[in-house]
Amino acid sequence: MFHRGQLSRRTMLRNALAAGAVFAAPNIVRGAVCDVTPKQVEGPFYMNDYDRKAPMVNNNDLTQIPGAERAADGEVIYLGGQVTDIECKPVKGATVEIWQSCVTGRYAHLRDPNPAPIDPYFRYSGEFLTDEEGRYSFKTIRPGPYPIPGGMMRTPHIHFRVVALNPVLTTQMYFAGEPLNDKDILLGHVAKAEQKRLVVEPSTRPGSYGEENYYAFDLTIGSFGFSLQRDG
Ligand SMILES: [Fe+2]
Repeated sequence: MFHRGQLSRRTMLRNALAAGAVFAAPNIVRGAVCDVTPKQVEGPFYMNDYDRKAPMVNNNDLTQIPGAERAADGEVIYLGGQVTDIECKPVKGATVEIWQSCVTGRYAHLRDPNPAPIDPYFRYSGEFLTDEEGRYSFKTIRPGPYPIPGGMMRTPHIHFRVVALNPVLTTQMYFAGEPLNDKDILLGHVAKAEQKRLVVEPSTRPGSYGEENYYAFDLTIGSFGFSLQRDG
């Protein structure tokens, strides 16, 4: 288990190479055809108390804490997608991290002042190594909205961070149709034309039996050694 600041660049390089990570060479920038996913702030609730106590690698089921007598509260949803570089090539061996609130809108984090109850059966974050095709998947619950200073509410969202040598992309995924989306201060910072890349419609989970509880969220990261994300 690691959290930000504990993983040295050398360790990340070793882990990534061991996992067979593929990175774009510097000279591919001229041929870029995929735009980097709009980035968003990490926020104050990265990781949590539960996940500091247990290994996280390939923990992609947030609905069930190992050994717990029951699953988390809330509507079960599935997330999945592909991580690509700016040439649209799959990035295998990248770590996709997610963290989110439980169904009440509470994070399991010491800094969360929200008085809403914690769900002790929910695992508030997870991580997954992308496969040969750069794909990842998670099973989780649809998070609740939560208050922030100033009397505002954050619309339901899931934080994403993709780590491939460097922490190259941090962003947030949103749910189409949420009434709070139009008022959300952070989503509002993204240009209108780009917001559709972060706001996801539900779709049918691949290989499932018709449930409309799947959210496909592809992520395009910058190339190793470059900061190609556009601010603003
Ligand atoms: Fe958040």
